[in-house]
Amino acid sequence: MSNAALMSCLDDWNDLEKEYAQLETDHKTYVKQLEEMTATQKKCLASIAHHRYRMKRIQDSVKRAGKELSEEEVESLQKLQASVQERKITFREMEEVLPHKNGLYLSIILGQVNVSLLNKNDKYDYKHEYERFKLTVSYVIMILALAMTFVTEYRWIDAVLNFLLVWYYCTLTIRESILVVNGSRIKGWWLTHHFVSTVCAGISLIWPTGWTYQQFRRQYIIFTLYISFVYVMQYYYQSGSLYRLRTLGQRHDMDITVEGFMSWMWKGMTFLLPFLFGGYIFQLYNAVVLFMLSREPQCKEWQVIVLSIIHFLLFAGNTITTLMVIRQKVKKDGLNLTFLQNKYRFTSHLKSN
Ligand code: COA
Repeated sequence: MSNAALMSCLDDWNDLEKEYAQLETDHKTYVKQLEEMTATQKKCLASIAHHRYRMKRIQDSVKRAGKELSEEEVESLQKLQASVQERKITFREMEEVLPHKNGLYLSIILGQVNVSLLNKNDKYDYKHEYERFKLTVSYVIMILALAMTFVTEYRWIDAVLNFLLVWYYCTLTIRESILVVNGSRIKGWWLTHHFVSTVCAGISLIWPTGWTYQQFRRQYIIFTLYISFVYVMQYYYQSGSLYRLRTLGQRHDMDITVEGFMSWMWKGMTFLLPFLFGGYIFQLYNAVVLFMLSREPQCKEWQVIVLSIIHFLLFAGNTITTLMVIRQKVKKDGLNLTFLQNKYRFTSHLKSN
């Protein structure tokens, strides 16, 4: 190495040293702010818990208060209760940007790793990615189910599809539990539905190739095709709704107001619901066909009756939950639009004071 080259290297290194000093200062500031942030997060969480406890005590006292109250006192009580309700909503919003503990299922499979997403951009991206994941896998399932219609004598392709379904539903339960930690309002049944569907696909995977299997195979393929088609339609409804919630009140050129959102939601639901109920009737039909097969003398496999029960359970759970969702949406009170409006929006409506 020449002398000049060595000098140039040393000059470079000295330059870098100066920059490194700045990096060290920035990192120290970052660590300090991180510590401060963690301490403030803990303080806010403790404070919210304390407020909730005090509010519950106040509400208990209100309930115990005598019934013979003057008009003025009744009015004050009503005002108090309205304020308590408003405060509860504000607490939910505050919690949107605070870390949450993992539920039991996530604690078992992931441990206490922090899966809280603390800004609305990340929440939106994660939810959108979850919807896209469902869409992509649904297309793969469709292709495999179509291949099954042409390849009848190779059981391995059935096994690939069922194994994919086991993995898919299992993954959904994990992703959905992470969504729940981050404030998603997914109904408990949809999570349960994906646990039950994992078991259903697992049992189909180990169902021996016999007379009953061959009898049901064609119907199972058509059902799988139909369900993946429903999942694709669900994607367009959910991602449309997600996009509109995010831009609610921000894109005036697209008329995305609360009323606009509601009207779009109802149009989407009206289109989707017949297909959903078609799927539930299909599940009931599967349950009946499997039940009849289980009573045939040629039926030796326990999988047939168990799958019949599972399909019936899915039919009943899906029908009841979807009807409940419709009822909740018809009753306007069930839709907390103020909360929804701010769910994925970048600007929070939390008061800055
Ligand atoms: N799976 C996962 N998440 C669901 C869900 C489902 N089936 N249904 C609703 N959610 C989510 C929504 O995305 C929303 O999430 P967010 O709080 O993170 O924003 C939350 O749950 C609340 O949604 P909600 O207002 O109750 O319903 P919706 O308007 O989003 O959807 C339906 C209503 C009826 C269209 C929807 O529940 C649905 O598609 N259900 C049928 C599912 C089904 O039967 N699948 C099997 C196919 S046969």
